[in-house]
Amino acid sequence: MALSRHKEKIPGIKRIMGVLSGKGGVGKSFITANLALAMAKMGAKVGILDADIACPSLFRIFDISAKTPPDSNNQIHPVEKYGVKIVSMAGLSATEDEAIVWRGPILSKIIQQLLKESLWGELDVLLIDFPTGTSDSTLTILQQIQVDGAILVTTPQSLATIDVRRAGNMVRMLDVPMLGIVENMRGEIFGEGGGSITAQKLHTSFLGSIPLRKQIVEFCDRGTPAFFHMDELDLIFGKIARSTLEQVFANISV
Ligand SMILES: Nc1ncnc2c1ncn2[C@@H]1O[C@H](COP(=O)(O)OP(=O)(O)OP(=O)(O)O)[C@@H](O)[C@H]1O
Ligand SMILES: [Mg+2]
Repeated sequence: MALSRHKEKIPGIKRIMGVLSGKGGVGKSFITANLALAMAKMGAKVGILDADIACPSLFRIFDISAKTPPDSNNQIHPVEKYGVKIVSMAGLSATEDEAIVWRGPILSKIIQQLLKESLWGELDVLLIDFPTGTSDSTLTILQQIQVDGAILVTTPQSLATIDVRRAGNMVRMLDVPMLGIVENMRGEIFGEGGGSITAQKLHTSFLGSIPLRKQIVEFCDRGTPAFFHMDELDLIFGKIARSTLEQVFANISV
C-alpha cells in the first residue's frame, strides 16, 4: 500500500531530517540536539523543530527560557543558541508544566504551523525531533512534508529494537529515505549490539553507538550540551553528522 503522495517542500530549507524511535525515552531529543551542534560545528546552517508538542524538551536541553509567541504577522521567530535555530512548543506555552492534550489531527496541524510559519531563514538542514512511535501526527507529517531522511534511534535491548523496526517500516512505507540507526545507551544496563543487528535487519546503515554515561544525564539536566564537554561525543556525533549530511546531499552540489 503506497501511503505517500505529493510532498511539500519548505522554502529556504535545503534538507529536512527526522529523528524517530519506536520506544520513548531512548534519547531522540538528546541525539537531535547534539547532532545539530556537530553539524553546526562543520559549518552547516542548522535548525531544529521540536515536534514533540505534548512533551517538548529541546528548550530544556539548550537551557532556553525565552517565549516565542507569534508576531503580528503570525510568524514565529526561532531562538538561536550555539548557532542552531530552535522552534518548540515550549516557547508558546505559558509554563513548562502546562499539559498539552490535543488529538492527532490537531497535533499535526500545529506541527505544520510551527514548521511553515517560523522564520527559519536559509537553512542547510532542519532536524525534526518527532514524538515517540508511529503516532497519527508523525505519520501525517511524513506523508505531507518532504522529509529527506530518517534517523532511527534505539537502545540496544531487544524490546526497543522490535519497536524501532516498526517505526522503520512506517518510514519505508511513506517513501522517506532511511539514513540509518543510532544505538544509544550502550553498556552494562542495556547491553550492546542491538543497533547494528537492527540496521542489518532493516538493510540500512549503522550510524554509530553512544554509551550510557552518568555525565550525559547530568549535562542534560543542567541544560549544558554534553557535546561541548565530552570528546567521545564530539567524535561520535561528528561521524553521524558527516554520514547523514553526505546521504541527504548526495545528489546535489552545495
Ligand atoms: N547516552 C546517554 N547516557 C545517559 N543518559 C542519556 C543518554 N541519552 C539520553 N540520556 C538521558 O535519558 C533521558 C531521555 O532522553 P531523551 O529525552 O533524549 O529521550 P527521548 O527519546 O527524546 O524521550 P521522549 O520519548 O520522552 O521524547 C534524558 O534524561 C537524557 O538526559
Ligand atoms: Mg524527546
